[in-house]
Formats: sequence, structure tokens, C-alpha cells
Amino acid sequence: MPSSVSPVEIDALGVRAEAMVNTLGTISAESDRLVRLFLTPEHRRAADFVTEWMRAAGLTLSEDALGTVRGRLEGRGKKRLLIGSHIDTVIDAGQYDGSFGVIAGILAADHFRDKRLPYGIDVLAFGDEEGSRFPATLASSSACAGIFKPEMLSLADRNGVTLADALSAYGKSRADIPAAAYDRDEAAAYVEVHIEQGPVLETRNQPLGVVTAIIGQTYLNIEFLGEAGHAGTVPMLLRRDALAGAAEAMLLGETMARESKGEVVATVGRIAVTPGATNVIPANVVAIFDIRSGSEAARAKFAESLKAEVRAIADRRRLGLTITSTREIATTPCHPYVQDQFADAIRALGAEPLRLGSGAGHDGQAMAKLCPVGMLFVRCRGGISHNPAEYASPRDLGLAVAALIGFIERFEPDRFARVS
Ligand code: GLV
Ligand code: MN
Ligand code: MN
Repeated sequence: MPSSVSPVEIDALGVRAEAMVNTLGTISAESDRLVRLFLTPEHRRAADFVTEWMRAAGLTLSEDALGTVRGRLEGRGKKRLLIGSHIDTVIDAGQYDGSFGVIAGILAADHFRDKRLPYGIDVLAFGDEEGSRFPATLASSSACAGIFKPEMLSLADRNGVTLADALSAYGKSRADIPAAAYDRDEAAAYVEVHIEQGPVLETRNQPLGVVTAIIGQTYLNIEFLGEAGHAGTVPMLLRRDALAGAAEAMLLGETMARESKGEVVATVGRIAVTPGATNVIPANVVAIFDIRSGSEAARAKFAESLKAEVRAIADRRRLGLTITSTREIATTPCHPYVQDQFADAIRALGAEPLRLGSGAGHDGQAMAKLCPVGMLFVRCRGGISHNPAEYASPRDLGLAVAALIGFIERFEPDRFARVS
């Protein structure tokens, strides 16, 4: 089936998408960098823009107990296709990560506003994909998927505000969380459009790609307990320096990941040092290790070896140690039927449907507990993401929306029963 979206329409969609991405990109807690955290005034402002865009696209609005904005297009049947992404950001973020996926969903739904599809569409704007505020993530998509864990409510942000308190301040009631869950018979599939956040599509000179699986993830909070002391008076051999121990552990993690020959990646992007004074030997350090792999076995083996090596470092340095796993997400395969429909839609646009894995986490990891999931990737310049230099061309954005429209035209909810 050829694309029903003409080249002129693709260009117009790209221009609209870019303008909307730029609009959300101005909504930040800080004037000189993009920071939009879950359940903050900036989240509210972005959600309000999304609400207005959805309304203008003819969607029926609602907002659930976790702040997820939902725009609904009714279809002829009870089943619905869920299309989503997130409007929270990392700290000092680019504009496209998450935002574009929500915008692509709105523009695609707008395309069908006067056509009654055999199934309905819900466009979802989640607020907690990055985990930048609370030490957990996917709270909003977990609620939609019916797997929200009430323990999450007691997690606190850097200022000691718990998720429960932040939800109340956002005007939400925890009693409404169970009602956010979709009915399994209703949710036919969840799909997400996202910038690739890596270099594969650019290297292969292709605008779009089909995601095969979303990488599995382990977060280890490793806390070293040493002893504070005077930086000028305590001899080097008598010190119990928590930060020196953490530094050794971080370098070890990097070496182990390098030696895995691409199977595992490991990062420490955040450490907390106490008391954090130039002239005081660090007494306490928490380092969060982000460990990812497409292989469940390789990830588990890496985490176990790292823990054993870190224990040895702590023993040798006479440091106390606690290790807590705060995130354990299995590799999430994208459904073959969803992949194939995205591939057909890309082919219809004259591009090659490259298949590739996602090294980034996505809301599909939670939504996969509800229904089959799939993702479409869009080329981004230099593969750069989680960085203000993030960029995708309006042409590629337009092609991505057109491919999502093509996917919607091809999608048959009842096919899952036959193909899976
Ligand atoms: C989210 O972007 C993640 O992969 O951590
Ligand atoms: Mn994202
Ligand atoms: Mn991200």
C-alpha cells in the first residue's frame, strides 16, 4: 500500500512538529538549560500545552492520577491503540527526547479526526520516564499498565518531598491510581515514536528504523561509609575515604564494561558526597550504577561480579558498604506484528526499514506488561541525546509522523490473537 501522506503534507507535518517541539523546549525550571521534572510547575505547563494541542486535534481529554494527559479518538470498536511518550526531561536536556513522541501521536491522531477507524486511539503524555526527580521511573506508564507499586509513593526527591506529597501538590489523589489502569481487553497495543538517541540510522543514511527490543536495566545504589576527618592532618594510610573507594569502584565498573566487548554498558552519572567540603575527608558517598544489556544473563552476571569486586574494595579500604537495587527491568521485545507494520509503513515512504535495538529505556517497558508494544525510531544528528545539542530535521520528523499514520492505517487489533 503506498503512503497516503503526500510529500507536501510530510513537509508540513515536519514543520508543525518542529514548532511544537520548540514550544515545549522553552518550558523549563531554569532559564539557561532545559529541566522539566515530574509533577513540577513546568510539568503542569507542558501538560497544559499538550492538552490544548490534543483538544485542537479533536481528541477528548482526560488526565489520570499520575498526571498522564490522555487524548482519545473514538473508533468503531472497543479496542484502542495507545500511542505515547513522555514530557519530563533529564537535567540539561535536549528538546526531542519524549516530547516528539507525544507530538507525533497528536499529529497522527489529528490526521484521522474525521475518519472513524475500526479501533480507537489514545494519545498518552507520560510525566515520569526519565526518573530525574524520584529514584525510580516509569511511574506514570506503570499506572496505565496496572503495575504501579504503592511503595513508590514513599520515595523522596532530593529535597525530601515524597512522590505521595508531590502528587497531592499536583492535585491528584492516590485513591484514583487503580482507575488509571487500562482494561486488558481494551488496550490492543502500545506504540511510541522516539528519536534514536544513537548513531545507527545516521550512519546507515536512513531516516527511520524499527525497534526490535528495549534494553534491560539494573540500577545499583552503592553506598560507601568512611570517616570524616581533617584533610590536612590525617595521614594518608590512616584514612577511610569514602569517595576514593567510590572512585575505584567506578573505574572498575568502566573497565568491566569495556571488557564485555559491547555486551554491557555501565555508567555512574550521579554521586552524592557527604559532607562535601574541600578540606574534609569524604565520610559517605552514594554512587548510582546504571547497568544495561540486551542479554539478561550478561546483565545479571555483570551486576553480581561488580558487587563482589566492590565488596573487596570496601573491605580493603575498611569502608562500610550497602548495595541496593533500585531498578530491575527486563529486556522488552517489540512485538513482531507491530515491527512488521512499522516496516511496511517505512517502505511505503521509500525508505529502508532498518531494525535496531534500543539502548535507552522507554515507557514501553512498563506498557509491555499490559499489551504488545513497538517503537519507531527517528534519525537524530550525531546520535546525540540527553544533551542540549539533540536535533532531528523537520523532514525526518515529518517522515516519522507519516510512518505512524501508515502504521495506524495498517494496524488490525485482532491480528494479535492470530500471530502471537
Ligand atoms: C531514559 O532515557 C533512559 O534510558 O534512561
Ligand atoms: Mn525518552
Ligand atoms: Mn531520555
